[in-house]
Amino acid sequence: MADTKNATLTFGDKSLNLPILKPTLGPDVVDIRKLYADGDLFTFDPGFTSTAACESSITYIDGDKGELLYRGYPIEQLANKSSYLEVCYLLLYGDLPNAAQLEDFNNRVTRHTMVHEQLHYFFRGFRRDSHPMATMVGVVGAMSAFYHDSLDINDPWQREVAAIRLIAKLPTIAAMAYKYSLGQPFVYPKNSLDYASNFLHMCFAVPCEEYVVQPALSKAMDRIMMLHADHEQNASTSTVRLAGSSGANPFACIAAGIACLWGPAHGGANQAALEQLREIGSVDRIPEFIRQAKDKSSGIRLMGFGHRVYKNYDPRAKVMKESADEVLDLMGIHNNPTLQVAKELERIALEDEYFVAKKLYPNVDFYSGIILEAMGFPTSMFTPIFAISRAVGWIAQWKEMIADPTLKIGRPRQLYIGPAQRDYVEIKGR
Ligand code: CMC
Repeated sequence: MADTKNATLTFGDKSLNLPILKPTLGPDVVDIRKLYADGDLFTFDPGFTSTAACESSITYIDGDKGELLYRGYPIEQLANKSSYLEVCYLLLYGDLPNAAQLEDFNNRVTRHTMVHEQLHYFFRGFRRDSHPMATMVGVVGAMSAFYHDSLDINDPWQREVAAIRLIAKLPTIAAMAYKYSLGQPFVYPKNSLDYASNFLHMCFAVPCEEYVVQPALSKAMDRIMMLHADHEQNASTSTVRLAGSSGANPFACIAAGIACLWGPAHGGANQAALEQLREIGSVDRIPEFIRQAKDKSSGIRLMGFGHRVYKNYDPRAKVMKESADEVLDLMGIHNNPTLQVAKELERIALEDEYFVAKKLYPNVDFYSGIILEAMGFPTSMFTPIFAISRAVGWIAQWKEMIADPTLKIGRPRQLYIGPAQRDYVEIKGR
């Protein structure tokens, strides 16, 4: 039962008044903070399907409409008109920068792109065939052993320096992980290049010949980064927040976020989606595959489809689909079988009763792999690129949380279903 300000919860002979909080956008939120103290009750919500874990003013998603806003700006407008570093500024500081602010931000990020030289030796501890995500989790975690002057989370200046360092150095670290897996020398960042071009250069240049980044590819990469920059309280962001709520340093928190992102239900889906499309291989095999994806006992899901929040077309997937056509055209790749399978699979799935009834639509990962593959990246680099792009979202959310004076350590409760208290039995009596 709810009036405009309170909900009333009645159980047994008790009745509790629970305040209703009004967001700027989205459903009202019942404030249950006093539920345990006043009612001796917990709530049960595995997977947090109905729980708002924090207040935030960074990103808003309307899953039914298929709408994504960064600080109020629609993702389609940003993807078409803005740039990744401008979006980073927006997410971190709340408003679009003017020209001088953007130049200053650009400079600060650019001047932090190199990593401590000793980190180069750290890479050598990894096997050459390590997945770049495994290397990134380790190296980003190790940043806290290298950058001692930005570990004090209570100092706003140090938080700012850590934020810039992470945004600047993640592309360098991801590119190093890639180069290490190939057995090629690391390529140092080149500060004359913009953020996306610099990343492409560090991945694809070799010391023995000139490598010129194609502006159209760098634009496509920049766009991919914008589309992935933040997505409110998803699994990896919630992981960063939970890790940070204990006071852990920002490098450790972002390493935790990277570890969470790796899973195939989250950021690992872009690799899984492309591998699945390749495995399907041709349009005539789609009906059989669809049959398997609908059969729970097969253990197969259509990767790059479905979303916890979007029950409509993911707006990022729309932009990504357009980019896929553009990039493949640019690379002179015509009639790409993977893109053909993807488009036909999408068409069939969107008409299929199972996918329609469950409101399963393509998500950001469905087309991104096709673009990254056309650019020359192996599938193992897809999730690291997601991690680079999402770093700013993690950091903006972490900074927002740390600056909040009401911050409490994240500590969920449980519905205990184990044995009640019992006495220890000596081994000979068991
Ligand atoms: N293929 C087939 N069936 C699916 C799929 C899919 N991709 N996604 C969901 N379903 C079914 C699922 O079996 C369930 O059926 P039922 O109600 O009969 O039990 C129903 O739809 C709801 O699924 P759920 O797993 O309860 O939904 P969720 O909100 O917990 O999961 C999801 C969301 C993204 C994990 C899921 O849709 C999925 O596994 N998709 C494939 C992986 C993927 O593309 N992940 C990337 C997400 S977007 C980028 C990111 O966040 O990193």
